[in-house]
Amino acid sequence: MSGYNVKRGRSLLNTPGPTNVPEQVQQAMVRNPLDLGDPRALSMIETCFRDLKKIFKTEHEIFMYAANGHGAWEAALVNTMSPGDLLLVPELGNFSTGWGEMAEALQMRTETIKGDWRQAIDPAKIRDRLAADKNHEIKGVLVIQTDTATSVTCDVPAIRKAIDESGHPALLFVDTIPTLAVTDFRMDEWGVDVAVSASQKGLMMPPGLGFVAASPKALEAHKKATSQRRYWDWSLRLAAESYRTFCGTSPQIQLYGLRASLDMLLEEGLENVFARHKRLARATRIAVEHWGQAGAMELNAINPDQYADGVTTILLKEGYDGTKIRDVCRDELQCALGGGLRNLSGKAFRIGHMGDMNEPMLYGALASVEATFAYLGVPYTPGGVTKAIEYLVECRKRGGKA
Ligand SMILES: Cc1ncc(COP(=O)(O)O)c(C=O)c1O
Repeated sequence: MSGYNVKRGRSLLNTPGPTNVPEQVQQAMVRNPLDLGDPRALSMIETCFRDLKKIFKTEHEIFMYAANGHGAWEAALVNTMSPGDLLLVPELGNFSTGWGEMAEALQMRTETIKGDWRQAIDPAKIRDRLAADKNHEIKGVLVIQTDTATSVTCDVPAIRKAIDESGHPALLFVDTIPTLAVTDFRMDEWGVDVAVSASQKGLMMPPGLGFVAASPKALEAHKKATSQRRYWDWSLRLAAESYRTFCGTSPQIQLYGLRASLDMLLEEGLENVFARHKRLARATRIAVEHWGQAGAMELNAINPDQYADGVTTILLKEGYDGTKIRDVCRDELQCALGGGLRNLSGKAFRIGHMGDMNEPMLYGALASVEATFAYLGVPYTPGGVTKAIEYLVECRKRGGKA
């Protein structure tokens, strides 16, 4: 047996979800459940709702599900829409398409504003389409804050402004699955009606909790929405008892983990969390742009003001295989990366730098990627890691500013 078949040391997890679960969160979940009526469990859960509102920056209602992001997507749709309702989908990448496909599967209709997967849809196009919808047939706009497949981020306040300028009553839905506790998001200030998220990215938790925040306007729409639902149903979950809030037994152990994660985020301070992600993202792009001088790769996102803070998608030139890079990096070097999704399948790979991530973890991933290029013979300009280090050292000298 080759010595390489035995893996030693820590493996690196640089996927854009699931992300690393910090020890404090892991430890918080190593416990026996309490009786579901135990006041200690109930008060812990209450504080999770309270503090999650600080992360969403909302005073509105939050619903929690034992579900992944797809569950939260479905909860958002079936609670506010009826079969036949039309949703506008500004295309940003794999996940905007995926949310639209889910709406179709739930008997809603969708209309896509076509994008090119390298930049966000101009909010003026959303404004114009809504302004032309005189009968208000469109009931909602499905926005992904950052499409994790393309690493393109859109400007949620600009979309809100576009909707307002059109005078259209459509609900604004925002998927914050890869952005909550990574990039600034302000549900109330930005006038978002329905915000969706999940536990396994910026919240540093295992997959398995889904969240939906709903504005008063969304709760009004809910009263008229006739989509079939039971587990997801907001009306049932608005009841006071915990057993109803969760439509059954609460996912108590995950909630202990969430409690620990919220403590860590609030201790660091959201502004510092965002700044840390900005620094790590910029360091990653600096490395990619350096490697790319050899001609085999480039950043997928083309507008600097749309770069993502939690993930970087690297687009490969014809003839280079992103799946191979990802497989070799994971199987040989024990560093997990994201692959190219849907239109980008095989044509890209992704470096995740969100959640419980620090500089040495990022250096490890960037060095593993360089080693993979060297191993596979992918042309790259050596020294991307050094460039990332130089940048992060400069940030450190100026007090952490990206
Ligand atoms: C932007 C976005 N939306 C939705 C999802 C789906 O979440 P899940 O895989 O937890 O169902 C993901 C997952 O990566 C995502 O990145």
